[in-house]
Amino acid sequence: MKTVSLGELEHKQLKNHSTGESYSLSGVISDFFGSKQVFLVHDVLLPGQKTSASYRHSIIEEIVYISKGNLTLKIGERSQAVAEGSFVFFDPQDTELHCLVNESGIPAEIMSFSVNRQDDAVIYNNNEAWRPPTLETPRMILRAIELSDAESIFSYARNPNVSRYTCWEAHQTIDDSLDYIKNNVFNHYAHGVPEPFGMTLKENPERVIGTVGCFWASRQNRAMELAYVIGEDFWGKGFAVEAAQVVMDYCFKEYSLKRIQARCFVENKLSARVMEKAGMVYEGTLKAVEYHRDQFWDMHYYAKVIK
Ligand SMILES: CC(C)(COP(=O)(O)OP(=O)(O)OC[C@H]1O[C@@H](n2cnc3c(N)ncnc32)[C@H](O)[C@@H]1OP(=O)(O)O)[C@@H](O)C(=O)NCCC(=O)NCCS
Repeated sequence: MKTVSLGELEHKQLKNHSTGESYSLSGVISDFFGSKQVFLVHDVLLPGQKTSASYRHSIIEEIVYISKGNLTLKIGERSQAVAEGSFVFFDPQDTELHCLVNESGIPAEIMSFSVNRQDDAVIYNNNEAWRPPTLETPRMILRAIELSDAESIFSYARNPNVSRYTCWEAHQTIDDSLDYIKNNVFNHYAHGVPEPFGMTLKENPERVIGTVGCFWASRQNRAMELAYVIGEDFWGKGFAVEAAQVVMDYCFKEYSLKRIQARCFVENKLSARVMEKAGMVYEGTLKAVEYHRDQFWDMHYYAKVIK
């Protein structure tokens, strides 16, 4: 039996050959199973064969990925064709019996991911927490945030000048910074999302001076959104641009992206400058698109799109 951590799978892509779409295997698994331990079985379904029996209705959480061939999904009395490269999610909440049948004349291959242990299974161990890698810029080390960074984050996130144009409020106590790390940061990491990286100066990698990263704007369309914030003492020194460029290069490459977007309230002129200097192109302004702090805000949209 082989054990593989979810982090190792981050870049393994599954491709839908008919639509050309590709998916990150670890993203699909962690979205569905969260932090549970997952087992994988490869199966060949010969013509006329069913996936196990029609028992999949109450206890099993399972994803079946059709890696080769075409199958038919039977749900109660209904039938639905499922093509090569599709995922079928079997949810314990489903009340109807369902199974996959190979009604084609050629063998099909499937990969089943489930929380049920089976012999000869490969275990994808989600318990090992994923963290973004450490990246280097000319002046900075960009690294994963941990709980021990709460104090550094609080020291700038408490400043109302920093949160003036952000969608979050200034942190009132260090508990707000701890909650941000536990709920927001670790939730992103649990889903393999590289946002945020802690920005640290090379001479002091212990102290986080800001955060930068990309989260999914649309996973289906392989588009991410860039976000950044820096402590006021460090503004105007080009750190945001320097970090944004390295993080975008990493995300384009590692997540097979086509587009990274960023947006800011029109009043946030410094942020718009960061986007321009980081090589993003202005795409337009959406009027009254955010209702925040009892008022409507217009937002500038920028994006970097690669060939
Ligand atoms: C927006 C922000 C990340 C910019 O970071 P930064 O590291 O200062 O950015 P840069 O040094 O690359 O500078 C960007 C531009 O702002 C200018 N600038 C930065 N601080 C300035 C200041 N205090 N006064 C005047 N101009 C300033 C820079 O000179 C540069 O413009 P230029 O190239 O025309 O000279 C930072 O101001 C910040 O964290 N703001 C609060 C959080 C926030 O708004 N995040 C973005 C949400 S969309």
